Amino acid sequence: MKLMVIGGGGREHAIIKSLKKNPEVTEIYALPGNGGIARDATCVNIGAKDIDGMVNFAKENAIDFAVVAPDDPLVLGAVDALEAVGVPCFGPNKAAAIIEGSKVFSKNLMKQYGIPTAAYEVFTDAEAALAYLETAPMPAVIKADGLALGKGVIIAQNLDEAKDAVKTIMADKKFGDSGNQIVIEEFLTGPEVSVLSFTDGNVVVPMVSSMDHKRAHDGDEGLNTGGMGTIAPNPYYTKEVAGRCMEEIFLPTIRAMKAEGRTFKGCLYFGLMITPDGPKVIEYNCRFGDPETQVVLPLLESDLLTIMRACREGTLADTEVKFSAGSACCVVMASQGYPESYEKGFEITMDGDLTAEVFIAGAKLENGKLLTSGGRVLGVVATADTLHAAIEAAYSQVPKVHFDNAFYRHDIGARALLACN
Ligand code: AMP
Ligand code: GLY
Repeated sequence: MKLMVIGGGGREHAIIKSLKKNPEVTEIYALPGNGGIARDATCVNIGAKDIDGMVNFAKENAIDFAVVAPDDPLVLGAVDALEAVGVPCFGPNKAAAIIEGSKVFSKNLMKQYGIPTAAYEVFTDAEAALAYLETAPMPAVIKADGLALGKGVIIAQNLDEAKDAVKTIMADKKFGDSGNQIVIEEFLTGPEVSVLSFTDGNVVVPMVSSMDHKRAHDGDEGLNTGGMGTIAPNPYYTKEVAGRCMEEIFLPTIRAMKAEGRTFKGCLYFGLMITPDGPKVIEYNCRFGDPETQVVLPLLESDLLTIMRACREGTLADTEVKFSAGSACCVVMASQGYPESYEKGFEITMDGDLTAEVFIAGAKLENGKLLTSGGRVLGVVATADTLHAAIEAAYSQVPKVHFDNAFYRHDIGARALLACN
């Protein structure tokens, strides 16, 4: 089988490595892939948002199955376009991807179907939003409606910060048209849990839970990033919480999407907060998380391609989805200065006795050398029987991966370990 994977980050590297385990797979093309992915797949210089480009490539190369991994092409309708020319895909169509593409849509969906989430108001007019804030409880959370590279959420501690946030999003248009509408919502507290799930639109099968670390520096200091590391499973996601999530959140969401004529097939990511009042949805993503995928897929024991095909064909109930009982830890190594400005072009080398898996996120191949080309450069991933051992194993391997100006967090998993005691 010839596969095509859209995207070019650490998540896509992890997906490709998992897909390769299926002996039926003869060729994997990554559009556009990256310098690390090039060692595991054939990279093609077609951008992840170039829908016409990917459709033409799929037709010309007789692609048997496509995996659309990032949010942008999903929200733009890449799956619809590929399916229209007969290429079977893993991923939601455009109508279903709106669950991530519009926060106003997802908040209204949750309200209508009684799915627990933070209380909120929607505004299309900056003046009305500013007037509302005068009496709103603080902190307040201000979110741009549309996609904003994961940066469209501002937590305002006081009225001044909240007003600034509204101006930044609605007047200065920091996130472009994504800020035409905003959601202002209640600030929730509690540990966060990421639950990625497979769904064929009827059945929902949660993957092993995980925990992201979004801030750039140790102790959750510094700016928000795309994610500096992950662990799985997440100890705050107990059996009791999992049971509540299935009944109160996962199944109601799948049923709601179907009832709306937006049947969701693919990976639905539940960003949850375990509040004193129970689990609530912070956000939905219409795709695998990054860097959650880098700890979740190494623990998957069943065949990823088989599961992906079952999601499309509506046969997930009859398909084995089994995860190991072990744990995993991913430590992201980034370029000094990320998520703001940073230098690129440094050579990445790895010691011969490296035992961890390395998923490359931001690197290019030049004359056979792997050079840094992004803020998040790579993730060092280890698995072990316990969370403690997985964290130790990942950190024991990080010093064996080298590039100039590298930095990483030293406390990935530390908060999770507290919950294990
Ligand atoms: P998002 O981009 O939606 O994942 O939001 C980024 C981060 O903002 C989340 O991971 C949470 O830590 C935080 N956040 C979002 N919504 C809320 C909320 N209602 N209350 C508290 N924190 C929130
Ligand atoms: N790690 C968060 C995300 O993928 O959105």
